[in-house]
Amino acid sequence: LVLILDYGSQYTHLITRRIRQLSVLSLCISGTSTLDAIAKLKPRVVILSGGPHSVHAAGAPSFPDGFIEYAEEHGVFVLGICYGMQLIVQKLGGVVAVGEKQEYGKMEIAVPEGEWGLYGPEAIGGHQTVWMSHGDEALKLPEGFTVVARSLQGSVAAIENRSRRFYGLQYHPEVTHSTQGMETLQHFLLDVCGVTADWKMQDVLEEEIKVIKGIVAPDEHVICALSGGVDSTVAATLVHKAIGDRLHCVFVDNGLLRYKERERVMSTFQSDLHLPVTCIDASEQFLRKLKGVKDPEMKRKIIGREFICIFDDFAQELEEKLGKRPTFLVQGTLYPDVIESCPPPGSGMTHSHTIKSHHNVGGLPKEMKLKLIEPLKLLFKDEVRKMGSILNVPESFLKRHPFPGPGLAVRVLGDVTEGNALEILRQVDEIFIQSIKEAGLYDSIWQAFAVFLPVQSVGVQGDQRTHSHVVVLRAITSEDGMTADWYYFDHKFLVDVVRKICNNVRGVNRVCQDITSKPPATVEWE
Ligand code: XMP
Repeated sequence: LVLILDYGSQYTHLITRRIRQLSVLSLCISGTSTLDAIAKLKPRVVILSGGPHSVHAAGAPSFPDGFIEYAEEHGVFVLGICYGMQLIVQKLGGVVAVGEKQEYGKMEIAVPEGEWGLYGPEAIGGHQTVWMSHGDEALKLPEGFTVVARSLQGSVAAIENRSRRFYGLQYHPEVTHSTQGMETLQHFLLDVCGVTADWKMQDVLEEEIKVIKGIVAPDEHVICALSGGVDSTVAATLVHKAIGDRLHCVFVDNGLLRYKERERVMSTFQSDLHLPVTCIDASEQFLRKLKGVKDPEMKRKIIGREFICIFDDFAQELEEKLGKRPTFLVQGTLYPDVIESCPPPGSGMTHSHTIKSHHNVGGLPKEMKLKLIEPLKLLFKDEVRKMGSILNVPESFLKRHPFPGPGLAVRVLGDVTEGNALEILRQVDEIFIQSIKEAGLYDSIWQAFAVFLPVQSVGVQGDQRTHSHVVVLRAITSEDGMTADWYYFDHKFLVDVVRKICNNVRGVNRVCQDITSKPPATVEWE
């Protein structure tokens, strides 16, 4: 296991992912975790991440007392990255100070001839481009440490003490701007630390199934709310493999789904995945409650509340049918949700979902006292897709763009029940998405959708003046939805889509494209 101690760098998740891409299991915990918490995980390697602090700042986060002794006693390799390297230098008796020149962005470093732990033969004697982002620098190294690489400006870029197994990189090998960063990590972990690259999704799956079989007793039942998204579908499929039809899924049509979505996802659940799923058509109930509501937050709250009521009824009916209460609830929680919900102290990071009240179907009533099964809790999104693929979830399903829990309610601005806004939006969205698929662009786009504006504009259609609706097309690229760029379609594509929309959707006479990135905008309009 490679354990990452997080000191708040924006790249910490990336280190974890990069190492997993080398087929090595890596986990990330707070940089101020106790020695017990670290020792319990029995890491072979500990990586100290970067962070926004100076090691001299009051309250600068650090590893617990006794960590150095623990590492040496147990033969643990320690690699500090950026702030992590400065921690090593300072804690082992060197000097860290504000650098003469601050180094941000791409830099050249030189790796001189020699036998180094941090670099393999291909890198030695050469130059490489790396990504730096630091103000402090190591002015004096602790005893026994050697400078392995320097920036062309002359500052220390990499250090090591091979006999004590301490290593440091002043730059970020995990970002793609560091052109040989992956090779450096691979060489260090596999060749120097002797970590084996044997972490496979198939093994993770089998281990999870074993764990679930172990915790759910043969007479116990499990429930799961399927949203139609990748995470809940993969989680349910996995649990189904472990306990069969003692899993009971529910899919709720809240009247806010896309064109033919209910039919499409139900067909995947039933025909492809053979999941035991009950489909509840609650569209009237949801739309009744949303009538006249314009405030986006209020809409979200109403949808969340209604969902809980329906789920509660489902559990109740199940209890009557089975003669006993289900005891577990499956949720498709992912690793980033787990890390983000407990940011390292002092990192200045807050839970990333405070901009809008988010909203997964997962937010189920605590008073139901269900125990949680979260089989994807240690995985990133791309890993969940890999697991889904092993579980035979159709590739087209795994690649679906994200869709918000409150559905089209956040894409019809204002009152969703006014006129036939939802129906118009469904048709426009379908034309847009199908055109994207036909053009072979779907997989290059993170998310694409249409938005319905509660305004009308004047147009002329078939010699008649019209006063019809305005819709907006939005397509973005993104790594994780936290930031986004708008997607650049070619002219002809846009001309064709707009023509198709205006010719086929009654009630629309104007189509706009949203070319705002996030920030300053968000992905959704509400
Ligand atoms: P925003 O609009 O916050 O969207 O920039 C970032 C990502 O989150 C999705 N999103 C939601 N997902 N419930 C969800 O489950 C929501 O209420 C919600 N709001 C936004 C959005 O589609 C994008 O992928």
